[in-house]
Amino acid sequence: MDMRVYLDNAATTPMADEVIEVMADVMKNNYGNPSSIHSLGRESKAIIENARRSISSLIHALPKEIIFTSGGTEADNLALFASVNDLGVERIISSSIEHHAVEHTYTKLKSSKNVEVSLVKLGKNGEVDLEHLETLLKTSNKKTLVSLMHANNEIGTLLPIKKVSALCRQYNALFHSDTVQTMAHYPFNLEELDIDFLTCSAHKFHGPKGVGFLYVNKNLKINPIIEGGGQERGVRAGTENLIGIAGLAKALTLANEEIEDHIDKVSALKYYMLEQLKEKIPGIEVNGMLEPEKSLYTVLSVLFPKFEKQEVLLFMLDLEGVCCSGGSACTAGANMGSHVIRGIEGDTTRTTVRFSFSRYTTKADIDFAIQKIEKIYGK
Ligand SMILES: Cc1ncc(COP(=O)(O)O)c(C=O)c1O
Repeated sequence: MDMRVYLDNAATTPMADEVIEVMADVMKNNYGNPSSIHSLGRESKAIIENARRSISSLIHALPKEIIFTSGGTEADNLALFASVNDLGVERIISSSIEHHAVEHTYTKLKSSKNVEVSLVKLGKNGEVDLEHLETLLKTSNKKTLVSLMHANNEIGTLLPIKKVSALCRQYNALFHSDTVQTMAHYPFNLEELDIDFLTCSAHKFHGPKGVGFLYVNKNLKINPIIEGGGQERGVRAGTENLIGIAGLAKALTLANEEIEDHIDKVSALKYYMLEQLKEKIPGIEVNGMLEPEKSLYTVLSVLFPKFEKQEVLLFMLDLEGVCCSGGSACTAGANMGSHVIRGIEGDTTRTTVRFSFSRYTTKADIDFAIQKIEKIYGK
């Protein structure tokens, strides 16, 4: 097969060999239902509880604050639905550039439960206007949930999460952050970050698809959105995804082992790629922030200058063996344009390409992509 490079790690990541090994071992040896009381069941249960303990200790939370889910989407849904159903929330403050797992959920809560939705103003790079957020928080007595993503999955803009958490506490609002793009990519310390809900998805950090968790602050008591056998201490029914949970814990452990090195290595690749693009493709522009402390180091979203084949740029990149995307994977395929680029009033007449990296990306991958991009533009 011709060479192919994978620069779409914000959509999903290849699984780490060590994660596959752990999962294969569980698959072979631990078929007991974690709710069964015999030894095989208890062994499965122990795998889940060990995973919960290692995950919680990595993020400095308590084991009981981790609720395993089928991934980021379910965790986002649970945080928003439970806030309204169980915690008295009547108003949600969020943004127009949230992942659809949040955006479609607050829209649904607005129409089905009459929840008031206020969208915070954004700067042209997707940065949250903190003054406006404070004004919104001040001007209502309704019990409020703030749901703002930690890093935008399309343009990488980071939220100053501690400042937002402090504002939420000051005005007695609940705070949920979709940390799907940042969990395992930055260190998390929930002893220092006062937050109510965090969302995690394993497949964004070399773990398996279809598993994640919602962190729920110990002070909150929520009910399930999926009813059944009362697993996850009654908060999420259904026989646990034992294999996935074991993989999730291993993937988070591996990511945290050398997290600072990963940050340095991947950031260097991102800025190298940007430099190369600027040199080879004059007129290229970045969507989102450039400063490392304001921008997710795994994402580089660029606006290509207009050229006659721009409509098919992604397709041509694919033919040349460069896997990347136009926006989030969820809207890919049908090129409907990105709600994020529209949300920041970005230029939708030019083609946006998101390159996204992981600790397995190499300089050779970037050089290959640059060479193909030059070729496409030279045509
Ligand atoms: C920011 C963000 N939130 C939520 C999700 C959904 O997570 P999952 O694919 O695990 O449902 C994704 C990615 O797909 C994402 O990038």
